[in-house]
Amino acid sequence: MLQPDYVVHGDDWVNGVQQQTRQRVIEVLKEWGGELVEVPYTGGISSTGIQQAIREAGTTPDQRLKRLRRILSVKPCMRVMEAHNGLSGMIVENTRYTGASGTAQEFDAMWISSLTGSMVKGKPDIEAVDITSRLQTLNEILEVTTKPLIFDGDTGGKTEHFVFTVRTLERLGVSAIVIEDKTGLKRNSLLDEQSSQEQESIEAFCDKIKAGKKNCVTADFMIIARIESLVLGRPIEEALVRARAYIEAGVDGILIHSKLADPSEILQFAKLFQELPDRVPLVAVPTTYNELTWMQLQDAGFNMVVYANHLLRSAYPAMLATAETILKNNRTLEAEASLISIKNLFGLIPANYD
Ligand code: SPV
Ligand code: MG
Repeated sequence: MLQPDYVVHGDDWVNGVQQQTRQRVIEVLKEWGGELVEVPYTGGISSTGIQQAIREAGTTPDQRLKRLRRILSVKPCMRVMEAHNGLSGMIVENTRYTGASGTAQEFDAMWISSLTGSMVKGKPDIEAVDITSRLQTLNEILEVTTKPLIFDGDTGGKTEHFVFTVRTLERLGVSAIVIEDKTGLKRNSLLDEQSSQEQESIEAFCDKIKAGKKNCVTADFMIIARIESLVLGRPIEEALVRARAYIEAGVDGILIHSKLADPSEILQFAKLFQELPDRVPLVAVPTTYNELTWMQLQDAGFNMVVYANHLLRSAYPAMLATAETILKNNRTLEAEASLISIKNLFGLIPANYD
């Protein structure tokens, strides 16, 4: 739309995850003869190095809170992984993967899922685990990590209660809360049966957003509205009407949810969403339409991709298999091969070796 004469970018995107974006920029610039200027990247400084430095120095609630908006302002699309206790938080904090491009990849932030947070307590995802109990889990994670946190706030509860939740999370250094536009007894959106689920009126949900924003102390804390229209079988146009209304009410991001394996509706929504005035960051939770890669979601216009339950879902079958193996063999020898050694287990917590 702007047709710039020059686009200036660090040359770090020649290889690695931004390669495709670079290619697109080159192609688009050709249309009007624009020029790409690539500045040599500063040697010895990498985002991984910065992450490592923060990990070593530790963080404060204030610094952690601000970091989400900062990352959103520099990365086209963040990757967020669920954490449901201190140990899974440490996995999100520390896991790194270096592929063929040689660029180390890691998660940018953590999702404090209501589903996995309930499941680890043996409870269904129906807001039965109250906010006080969820805050205990959150505190465990805050204790042992430095990355930004996004709290799954379910429906946000009553507006009168929601404003207290916002204040508490902000004070603790959480960067964002996501609230979904449902009312009544909330059940998980991925359940087949959704007939008992009622969507909140646009007006009431906007009032909740406004009350939440009014009670934020900083400009950094984000309230993200999650639209359940597609989950409830409503048309894309309706979801867009809600997106527009929530943005007008002052929301800082939109999460559009879908429980279909076919990504067409979510991609169509993302396309139309780009045209909204005052567009805010767009969030995807690709649990069902899992064939889409992070890069494909980025290209579709998403700014944040949340892997909402995958650490818990991988832990459960592993634990179950171990329990069965021990019963079957009347000893633990056969299970050992798939377990972390006791020595390496201690090694996970560095303080044990200080
Ligand atoms: C959660 O992780 O609790 C979520 C995402 O809200 S979903 O389970 O897909 O509803
Ligand atoms: Mg949830």
